[in-house]
Amino acid sequence: MTYLGIDIGTGGTRAVLVDNSGQVLASGMSEHAPIRSPQPGWAEQDPEDWWRAAQEAIRAALAASGLKASDIAAVGLTGQMHGAVMLDNEGRVLRPSLIWCDQRTGPQCDWLHQQLGREHLIELTCNPALPNFTLTKLLWVRDHEPEVFAKIARVLCPKDYVRYRLTGTYVIDVQEASGTLLLDVTNRRWSSEVARVAGISESWLPQVFESPDICARISSEGAKRTGLAEGTPVVAGAGDQGAGAVGMGILQPGSVSATIGTSGVVFAATDAPTKDPHGRLHTFCHAVPDRWHVMGVTQAAGLSFRWLRDTIAPGINYDTLTAEAEKVPAGSDGLLWAPYLFGERTPHLDSHATAMFYGITASHTRAHLTRSVLEGVAYSLKDTFTLFSELGIPVKGVRLGGGGARGPLWRKIQASIYGYPCDVLVAEEGAAFGAALLAGVGAGAWKTTDEACASAIRIAEQISPDPAAAKTYAKGYEVYRRLYPAIKAVRDGE
Ligand code: XUL
Repeated sequence: MTYLGIDIGTGGTRAVLVDNSGQVLASGMSEHAPIRSPQPGWAEQDPEDWWRAAQEAIRAALAASGLKASDIAAVGLTGQMHGAVMLDNEGRVLRPSLIWCDQRTGPQCDWLHQQLGREHLIELTCNPALPNFTLTKLLWVRDHEPEVFAKIARVLCPKDYVRYRLTGTYVIDVQEASGTLLLDVTNRRWSSEVARVAGISESWLPQVFESPDICARISSEGAKRTGLAEGTPVVAGAGDQGAGAVGMGILQPGSVSATIGTSGVVFAATDAPTKDPHGRLHTFCHAVPDRWHVMGVTQAAGLSFRWLRDTIAPGINYDTLTAEAEKVPAGSDGLLWAPYLFGERTPHLDSHATAMFYGITASHTRAHLTRSVLEGVAYSLKDTFTLFSELGIPVKGVRLGGGGARGPLWRKIQASIYGYPCDVLVAEEGAAFGAALLAGVGAGAWKTTDEACASAIRIAEQISPDPAAAKTYAKGYEVYRRLYPAIKAVRDGE
């Protein structure tokens, strides 16, 4: 049998077909329209565009595989987290979605903290209010577009809107729901207290399921639009970070991934909801029943490298830049990069933080700039490992993912900076693959998600820290940690 995973990402939607052994049989992709940013810090996308892209990606995957729709035993959904899709009482989209990277809701975060108390909000939802989280986006609409707010009958996250179009049901999974700031993450159900204090009607909220549970079936309209078979079961799935962790086998306490995509995420599975009293890490339900996860997010990880290339070396490919950087010694001869191009989440929770090169001298070259960017991003992810050790979150093994796992230099830098041997997987297929594995679990191909990962995920290589480089980086990290307070002090005129 075959399982379909669909990832409603930010740049595009990807659909992958996976068989019983975890082999990817075919995939399809469709780009989204660019993010709209009518004002600095704003980020909006049109839910109809996600649905259009999902139809195209599903049809492309089916065509590439040569399979019949009836060969697909179940569908799993994943996608960019936190976006707010607001629907009226006829299921029509009321306005473009404010998506995960939209930063406009600082005042609404402050309001929530005043109403509930920051510590009490962390007690209730395991997290403080951040502009990334869905609830703060609804409150912005309440404050600025009361005529839209008055018409809201349903609220969904991006992938759950696509599910609504595929199945006609209003459903969410516990992992995604954790990123709304409306979930009682400890008890895996909506928090009536947060909804009441925030003025959100619980009737707006979708029904919550565990990630591998079958929660809906493809409707006749969904089948007509996508080529899937009517009645195909759909599992709840998970947000991209939860499904991505399933796709990398990060399920057991002690297993950790460090993924460098546009943003960078260090993700650890836990067997209890481990809260950071300061809210610097996100604490969410995992895509596995009775498990949770923590994660730290670097806003501009791969984005730092792309920014550097586009700015100082347009038209030059990443491999050329990396090959130059390989000749520079570890530590970039004292040059350091603080990667706060888009503010920062972990550990600073400062959407106004700015980036900086520190320590430039006339002897530094482009190769030094490149190497220091790769190192600075890894230092920033190291901040999350530092928080893990502060909070007693165990790290037994680290798996590298995303673009940061593809080239040998960035892998080596990461292993030496984190100070752990790091595994690279044979094939890392991302969140859509994890969603397909969850669909397989729902359909009974594997008894549990742990069993699915054990049969589908293989390690290609282990990268060990280089002792000499690790020593240099330990000193570099101490200097790196002093950059943010200095940047902040200058900005705030202290
Ligand atoms: C997770 C997060 C991003 C988005 C977009 O907290 O904000 O990973 O899900 O990919």
